[in-house]
Amino acid sequence: MDLKEKIDKNNLPAHVAIIMDGNGRWAKKKGNQRIFGHKNGVKAVRDTVEGAGELGVQYLTLYAFSTENWNRPKKEVDALMTLLITTINSETDTLLKNNVRLLTIGDTEGLPKNVKEKLNAVIEKTANNTGLKLVLALNYSARWEIVNAVKNILTDSKKTDINIEKINNEYFEGYLNTKDIPDPDLLIRTSGEFRISNFLIWQIAYTELYFTDVLWPDFRREDLYNAIINYQQRERRFGKISEQLI
Ligand code: IPE
Ligand code: IPE
Ligand code: MG
Repeated sequence: MDLKEKIDKNNLPAHVAIIMDGNGRWAKKKGNQRIFGHKNGVKAVRDTVEGAGELGVQYLTLYAFSTENWNRPKKEVDALMTLLITTINSETDTLLKNNVRLLTIGDTEGLPKNVKEKLNAVIEKTANNTGLKLVLALNYSARWEIVNAVKNILTDSKKTDINIEKINNEYFEGYLNTKDIPDPDLLIRTSGEFRISNFLIWQIAYTELYFTDVLWPDFRREDLYNAIINYQQRERRFGKISEQLI
């Protein structure tokens, strides 16, 4: 049976998040510079976005650049920012054609001006698209997001009195970048690393985790299918016992 046919359309993860890792190692294995890996990672992004959209996944969040990634050599950071711009330019038509809506999470104010402008233009252009919501995590760090939420709650508390009793999970989530986005059902990390690297710490409390050795530039929709098939074999209990689940 075809891999795609093994997927139960009634049990799709509504939100898939991916830590796209292994570009540098992929390039090194081929005797190339790290940036060659990043460039080839774009093909994986394109195929995964198309594959997820076609299946009917509602949200796809891609970790593209962490706050800590600024600490890489300047040459690599500059190349990544340039690649971000060229990719937005080259992929906008495909996003429009596929009815994909672009969103971002992270401290996008901290991105270079030209990147910010390009992103905002595409966010606006795709704002009325009703298909897959593609969420790019850029200059993102989960700890930054949480601290930022606390700061904003305190700022608001100076304007209007906040009843401390009112602060619960839902209230707090309203101050996260992912406000209005459901928690990921499935988190995939490529390249054989078993860590979260400051990604969506709050939101993945009950997310199913899937790790694969595939390096990101080699990742294709079939790898997404495999992850979803694996996800569909799991029992999500959310603290309950099996017998309580319908
Ligand atoms: C992921 O690949 C892309 C970014 C973090 C921007 P890496 O660049 O981390 O590649 P490895 O992990 O060094 O192989
Ligand atoms: C995580 O990958 C960040 C992104 C995929 C954008 P890293 O390669 O930066 O993570 P570490 O440093 O190996 O934990
Ligand atoms: Mg890495």
